[in-house]
Amino acid sequence: MVSAGLDNAPLNFQYMVMQLTQSPHIVTKAYHEILKCYNHDVTKAWNECHVELKCAYISAIVKETLRLFTVLPMALPRQTTKDIVYQNAVIPKETTIFMNCWAGNHDEKKFIKPMEFIPERFMDLNHGCDLDDGNHHEDFGYDGGKLDESVKHLAFGIGSRMCLGNTLAFKELYVLTCKFLLMFEPLDIETPGVDGQLNPLKLNKFPESIAIEPKEAVIKLKVKNLQLLAVLDGA
Ligand code: HEM
Repeated sequence: MVSAGLDNAPLNFQYMVMQLTQSPHIVTKAYHEILKCYNHDVTKAWNECHVELKCAYISAIVKETLRLFTVLPMALPRQTTKDIVYQNAVIPKETTIFMNCWAGNHDEKKFIKPMEFIPERFMDLNHGCDLDDGNHHEDFGYDGGKLDESVKHLAFGIGSRMCLGNTLAFKELYVLTCKFLLMFEPLDIETPGVDGQLNPLKLNKFPESIAIEPKEAVIKLKVKNLQLLAVLDGA
């Protein structure tokens, strides 16, 4: 349990921050979407974002990170416990098999522009994702938009042996993303040896390893909310 969960969530977060430096429009939208869910009160958002996954756009950012990055591109090795007939072939008992999550997560028949970071692909765009008209929609039961639950990714694997920690990992990433965006604005990134593209395979420090680990990067952040910082300092 512990070793499975040690690297995957932080590596995803690292990749997300790298992506966010390239997408100021996503950062701005995410910040406003979080605030809409908490009556435009930054401190309340900070203190309560762990209670429930209220902001669908943040969930969409986490899902898009998990999909595009696919930290375990071939999932984990599994061994068949009996002969399996697949089409005209027999896969013998005790064969090691891998699931190609990377291929599924980057299949252009399922995901338009699969190498681009587009959280909106996980949103139900007919249900208030983009209500930027200045009104306080929470007065009318605004719930931060809706996810399109029919869009699935394979970053946690699938089936009876899918990631056991997936809900915990998702919530960790959700809370971390909310708090990160409430506190910081990612400005810039320097990735030595990388040509500006954030292709996870090109960023991978250890191509022979089972997990993708991005090369080190220098990321410039600006503290966004001095008021929040002051509240936390006081606490
Ligand atoms: C973003 C973070 C994570 C990702 C992307 C991830 C991904 C995966 C994947 C792809 C598998 C293999 C699934 C398959 O073979 O179909 C797996 C297995 C597993 N993961 Fe995670 N994982 C994450 C975090 C965690 C955390 C935090 C925990 C524990 C607290 C955890 C516990 C496990 C365990 C126990 C298995 C083995 C399940 C089994 O063999 O039945 N994972 N994970």
